[in-house]
Amino acid sequence: MSPLTKTQFQNPSSDQMTYDAMSALFQKHIGPGRFARTAYRVREQASPENSFGVNAYDEQELVGTVSFTPLNIAGNNSACLLGPLLVAPPYRSKGLGLELMQDGVEFARSKGFKVTLLVGDLEYYQKIGCTHISPGTITLPGPVDPMRFLGFEMEQGALQQLNGQIKGE
Ligand SMILES: CC(C)(COP(=O)(O)OP(=O)(O)OC[C@H]1O[C@@H](n2cnc3c(N)ncnc32)[C@H](O)[C@@H]1OP(=O)(O)O)[C@@H](O)C(=O)NCCC(=O)NCCS
Repeated sequence: MSPLTKTQFQNPSSDQMTYDAMSALFQKHIGPGRFARTAYRVREQASPENSFGVNAYDEQELVGTVSFTPLNIAGNNSACLLGPLLVAPPYRSKGLGLELMQDGVEFARSKGFKVTLLVGDLEYYQKIGCTHISPGTITLPGPVDPMRFLGFEMEQGALQQLNGQIKGE
């Protein structure tokens, strides 16, 4: 396999090629079910220009991607929502998913975010330091299995400042 290149992006909808490649990857490997998820509702609320993340390419082909959505939680703008994270099947189990998350979190930190939240499996996301979000503190605009609502602080104490319903910004 040739070495992969990773590129940060901001507002992918402003670049047709990037947008089309990401849409095709999601369509092929996640499918329309993603639109029904509560995390999607949050991303839908947000302005597309605020979305940012990291893409991984093998030559010209997009083979992995992670996005982040800035959040507004009762007026607090210090958190972002990680997702979707996707790696094309031939590239899985080689550490690319973890690398994309780590690079993405560094990108988020450089933008001033202090907390990363996400909906996913703790077994996987604990690799980047995620733990469960205490029930009743931060809420999502729809149903979510509380065991899958996760997050971690990039600045000590930042999670304690958050209380209320998440809104995509
Ligand atoms: C989840 C995903 C991004 C991981 O990408 P990756 O490049 O394979 O990730 P890594 O190489 O860092 O880690 C792979 C390991 O994590 C494990 N893993 C993957 N998803 C997992 C999950 N949901 N729960 C627990 N372990 C998981 C894999 O089995 C693999 O284990 P192995 O190393 O023993 O083979 C990839 O499997 C994927 O795109 N899945 C479909 C989309 C998806 O579920 N996205 C996440 C929710 S939006």
